[in-house]
Amino acid sequence: MSTNNSYKTFDTSLKVIAPAKVNLHLEILGLRKDGFHELAMLMQSIDLFDEIEFFKTTNSEIKLSCDNPNLSLNDDNLIIKAAKLIRRVSNNEQLGVEIYLKKNIPIGAGLAGGSSDGAAVLLGLNELWQLGLSIKQLEELSAELGSDVPFCLRGGTQFCFGRGELVEPVSQGDDSMAVILVKDPKTSVSTPWAYSRYKELNSTNYLNLEKDFEVRRKFLREVSWINPLTSLNPPPLKNDLQKVIEPITPAVRNGLHFLSSLNGVLSLAMSGSGPSCFAVFANLDSAQIEFKKNQKKLESLGFNGWCCSFRSKGVTLCL
Ligand code: C5P
Repeated sequence: MSTNNSYKTFDTSLKVIAPAKVNLHLEILGLRKDGFHELAMLMQSIDLFDEIEFFKTTNSEIKLSCDNPNLSLNDDNLIIKAAKLIRRVSNNEQLGVEIYLKKNIPIGAGLAGGSSDGAAVLLGLNELWQLGLSIKQLEELSAELGSDVPFCLRGGTQFCFGRGELVEPVSQGDDSMAVILVKDPKTSVSTPWAYSRYKELNSTNYLNLEKDFEVRRKFLREVSWINPLTSLNPPPLKNDLQKVIEPITPAVRNGLHFLSSLNGVLSLAMSGSGPSCFAVFANLDSAQIEFKKNQKKLESLGFNGWCCSFRSKGVTLCL
């Protein structure tokens, strides 16, 4: 359903891109009263994105189609949830839209593809339906949709605290860095399962007090490698979920092993709840050279791979 429409005037249609993220730091601090985990994270948008087109309709229907047949198009999809949420807030249930999703970010991969799609819908429908909600209002709605959605709305390089929804910009990021990202297409990991597995094995070490959480947040804000975050001062990468997913997931072990064999890798880790893994490079050129050199090997291992730079923005309207 891709069209040649110009998106310069958003009267009847528009397009939004929804970037993936990787976790440069994912630390689980403890368990919250709401059952979620208290986190201290550093997240980074990357230049791998879904493309979402919106077409205004007058039939009060919210309809989704997608080029990937493995994706649910029903009410459990964050795109539908986000569209219904923002329409409810608009107090105009007559508003209708047809949404077409071109899914480039792998599903169930720890890259926040679904969360980014949700954030893109809030941004896109606010514009298409001319609702006039402020960024602050969109941020509040985004937190209702999921823990990673506020990050996806802002994007770039951000600390994410609380259950992940409290975002704080990092003063000095470096968008010239790049990643090679790998994922076994036959493996996916459920995020709730990953957290419950972590709890099973580690809850005796959880912190319990807000003041102890704050010590960890302060530590993360001030660690030497964050200011400035550059290829000369590369992020060491940490992911607590990797400790429980890697030992039982060959796709993660093999992915990390492949990445560790590349030249010019600054650091590597699993992203989110996995199973995708990534290696950080000083710049896109050096990552691309290694990516091309190793593409056959990657294919022979049965992995999908991407080479992309860091990105300074989250979901973005295409003009
Ligand atoms: O917020 P989101 O819907 O992305 O979370 C998915 C699941 O991951 C939650 O239902 C929960 O099981 C787990 N989770 C968690 N603590 C967080 C974020 C997610 O336990 N901070």
